[in-house]
Amino acid sequence: MSCELLEKLQQAVADVEAQLKVDASKDNIEKLRIAFLGRNGLFPALSKEMGGVPKELKKDVGIAFNSSRKAIEEALENAKNAFAVKEEAANALDVTLNGREWEIGHKHPISIMIDECVNTFRRMGFIVAEGPEVEDVYHNFDALNTPKDHPSRDEGDTFYFADGRLLRTQTSPVQIRVMESQEPPIRIVAPGRCFRRDTPDATHGMNFHQIEGLYIDKNVSLADLKSVLQQFAHEVFGEKVSIRLRPHFFPFTEPSVEYDFSCIMCGGKGCNVCKNSGYIEIAGAGMVDPNVLRNVGLDPEIWSGFAFGLGIERLAMLRYRIGDIRYLYENDVRFLEQF
Ligand code: PHE
Repeated sequence: MSCELLEKLQQAVADVEAQLKVDASKDNIEKLRIAFLGRNGLFPALSKEMGGVPKELKKDVGIAFNSSRKAIEEALENAKNAFAVKEEAANALDVTLNGREWEIGHKHPISIMIDECVNTFRRMGFIVAEGPEVEDVYHNFDALNTPKDHPSRDEGDTFYFADGRLLRTQTSPVQIRVMESQEPPIRIVAPGRCFRRDTPDATHGMNFHQIEGLYIDKNVSLADLKSVLQQFAHEVFGEKVSIRLRPHFFPFTEPSVEYDFSCIMCGGKGCNVCKNSGYIEIAGAGMVDPNVLRNVGLDPEIWSGFAFGLGIERLAMLRYRIGDIRYLYENDVRFLEQF
């Protein structure tokens, strides 16, 4: 009787070891644990047989019982650890796993619009020029024929530094810098950031972007300006867009115009975007004022030219139907992801 129990205990240890050799998977380890050590498993059943063991053998059989159970526990625990290590190694080297997708960023709508405008003008023969965002008063105002009492020079309209320099209020100073450093003929566009003391609202910010255009040659006329602006409108917003030039005033162009697109939303019939006028203002433009040419040492009897300044935010808002300029600067990914 007692010998029989001892044999069963030895057999149990041998069985577990043999079965682990055949299958040491996580599932099988758990199955063996339940079969041998679980509440309805072999060991609780064997412990009931302990009652029938003669007194003089009880101690030895008890020790054997405990050591067999411990041997099985250890065998299962070791197998479990070995399996975990193997599993980890397999995962680390699993070349069949799908690669992780990288999220690649993309251009901001303002950058997209600038690139598109620049490429359009490039095809018409313009090259890109740049100027500083921190300008001096001479380039931003004086050289552009803007007199001392002009409202745009006011402290309340322009950000000045203590040394008298300022954050440029327009990209027009690039006109001066280019004419100072290059001989005509000149054909440049200058995209960049500008700053004004505007109170932010749906259509104004303290900083914004313009693209300046400048063309200097002999016998340049308003018709040349109009054809370039017309071509631009067609390439960027489609053949259906018509343009309109309205008389206006800028200190550095004479004559000056404002440049409108027929409304992209309603096709010119009138809607809330164009405030029922059928047109949307896109840019200021005009023929370069003779005083400006003189300021950079060009003889207005020989040279003539046109200039224009397009508002990039305005174009981006029309292109993407954005109702509030502030969205463009909040860096909210949910907004930016749409472009
Ligand atoms: N600089 C002018 C503005 O910011 C626009 C402009 C540019 C007008 C070039 C005429 C010629 O309003």
